[in-house]
Amino acid sequence: MLVPYKQDATERFTMDGIRPARTGLRVAAWVSMAWFLATAWEAKAQGTDTESIRVARGWNLLTTREYLPADFDQEIFDALWTTWPEPLRSRAEQAPIESRRRMAMDRYGLIPHPDDPSRSLQYVVGKDGRWTMSCLACHQGQVAGRPIPGLPNSNYAIETLTEEVRLVKVRQRKPFGHMDMGSLLLPLGTTNGTTNAVMFGVALMRHRDKDLNVVARPLKFDLIHHDMDSPAWWHYAKRSHLYADGFAPKGHRMLMQFLLVKENGPKEFLAWEDEFRDIEAWLQSLTPPEWPWAVDTALAEKGRAVFATHCGSCHGSAGSHTAKAVYPEKIVPIDEVGTDRVRFDSLTARDRRNLNESWFAQSDATRDSATGRESPAGYVAPPLDGIWASGPYFHNGSVPTLWHVLHSASRPAVWHRTHTGYDRDRVGLEVISLESMPVQRLTSAERRAYFDTSKPGKSAAGHDFPDALNEEEKTSVLEYLKTL
Ligand code: HEC
Ligand code: HEC
Repeated sequence: MLVPYKQDATERFTMDGIRPARTGLRVAAWVSMAWFLATAWEAKAQGTDTESIRVARGWNLLTTREYLPADFDQEIFDALWTTWPEPLRSRAEQAPIESRRRMAMDRYGLIPHPDDPSRSLQYVVGKDGRWTMSCLACHQGQVAGRPIPGLPNSNYAIETLTEEVRLVKVRQRKPFGHMDMGSLLLPLGTTNGTTNAVMFGVALMRHRDKDLNVVARPLKFDLIHHDMDSPAWWHYAKRSHLYADGFAPKGHRMLMQFLLVKENGPKEFLAWEDEFRDIEAWLQSLTPPEWPWAVDTALAEKGRAVFATHCGSCHGSAGSHTAKAVYPEKIVPIDEVGTDRVRFDSLTARDRRNLNESWFAQSDATRDSATGRESPAGYVAPPLDGIWASGPYFHNGSVPTLWHVLHSASRPAVWHRTHTGYDRDRVGLEVISLESMPVQRLTSAERRAYFDTSKPGKSAAGHDFPDALNEEEKTSVLEYLKTL
C-alpha cells in the first residue's frame, strides 16, 4: 500500500498555515492515494471475490455518499477567506481561485481530493455543490504531506471551520445547519486535530429509544466536554471492542452511531445498513503504513527484546499485524495507566448501557460474540502497528512524539505543531514546545493551534511504564517502534 517517495529534508512550513508550493511532494501524495483508489477499483473489476467488492464499495461510499445533512455550499466555501485575519485575507484575495481553495483547505486541515482538487477528501461534494461532512473528516489524515488510508486527521480544524462558515452564512443570509447550531451549544474541538466526537453519539442517544425512534426529552447539558484524538482505523481488524475504554462491541451498526441526527430515523438506518457492511469491510482490510525512511536494524533488534520485556504484555507481540499476531486487547485500570481520566469519567454506566442495549450494538452473528461493557476499568492498550504515523499520542492526543511517550518528564506543557512537519528523530509531529500559553492576545482560531496540557481533559501525564528503561534501552525501543 505504500508508495515510496522522497521528502526534502529542508521542507518547512510557514507558521500561518500556508504551505509554500511543493509540487513534488503534493504529486507524490496524490499518486499514493490515486494508486490506492486504483487498487480498490481493480479489486472491484475482478469481480470474483465478494469481500474485495465490498472493500472497494466501502471506500467509494465513504467518499461519495451523503449520510448527513449538508454543512455548506460551494459559494460559502469560496467566500470563507473573507473572514480571515490580515495579511492572510489580502493574500487570498489576490490569489487565483484554485490557490485560494487550497489555502482554505490548509487552514481547516482538509486534503484535496485526488480526482478533483477543488473539493476535499473529507467532505462529500454533491452535484449541487453542497458539502457534507463524512467520516473521513476526522478519520483521513496525512503524514509528512502524504494521505494514508485510515490515518487520523490530526489537522482538522472543525471548530474554526464551523465558526467561519457561520459568519459567511450570516452575510449571505443563508440558514444555519446542524453543525452551526451544535457548535453554539457545545464545543466541537478546542484544539485542532482533536474533536469532542465521543459526545455526539452519547448525547444524541439520549433522545432515542432502543429502536432509534426520536423521543422528546429535555436537552441535557451535564456532559463533560473534552477533545479526543481519533484512533487509527487500521487497528479495526484487531479489535473486538471499540473506543478508548473498549466499552462497545464492534460491528457495522456501531459504525453508524455517528449518523444520529434528527433527520436520520429508523428508516434511514435500516436502508443504509448494508452499505455499512461495505464500509466495515474496507476498515477491516486496512493495513498499517510502513515507515518510509531508513531504519538502524541492529538497534531496532535490540529494541525488540526490550519491548517484549517491558511493553508486550499490554500492547501485544512484535510485528503483531502478521498472522502470528498476539494482541491481548488489555484494559488497564485507570489509576495504573494514569493518563488523563476525563474521557473515562465522562461516560456513566447508564450512557454506556444505553448504547450497548441499542440497535447499534447488534451485529452480524458470525463474529459477534463480544458484548458491551458498562463499567470498564480503564483504557485499552492499543495495538502499536503503524504507530510512527499516528501522532499525536494517547487517547487525547496530548503527546506529540514517541520520544515524548518514552520520556515522561520531558513532555511539553504547551505545544504548537508546525503545519504538517514530521519529526523523524523524535518520531511524530514536528512541534514547538512552550512552558505556557503565549501572553499576547490570540484569536480563537490561533488559540486552537496550541495544545495546552493544563486544560481539563488535556493532561499529558501518566503511562510512566517506559521510566523503567535506561536511555540506551529507550533509544533502541524508539528505533523498534518505527518498524511496527
Ligand atoms: C468529528 C470527528 C469524527 C467523525 C466525523 C467520525 N469519527 Fe469516528 N471517532 C472519532 C473519535 C474522536 C473517536 C475516538 C472515540 C473514543 O475512543 O471514545 C472515534 C472512534 C471511532 C472508531 C473506533 C476505533 C477504535 O479503534 O476504537 C471507529 C471504528 C470509528 N470512529 C468510525 C467512524 C465512522 C464509520 C464514522 C462515520 C460514520 C466516524 N467514525 C466519524 C472521531 C470522529
Ligand atoms: C500496563 C500496560 C502497559 C504497558 C506495560 C505499556 N503500555 Fe503503552 N499504553 C497502555 C495503555 C492503556 C495506553 C493507552 C493510554 C491512553 O490512551 O490514555 C498506552 C498507550 C501507548 C502509546 C500511545 C498509543 C497511541 O495510539 O496513542 C504508546 C506509543 C505506548 N503505549 C508505548 C508503550 C511502550 C513503548 C511501552 C514499553 C516501554 C509501553 N507502552 C508499556 C498500556 C501499557
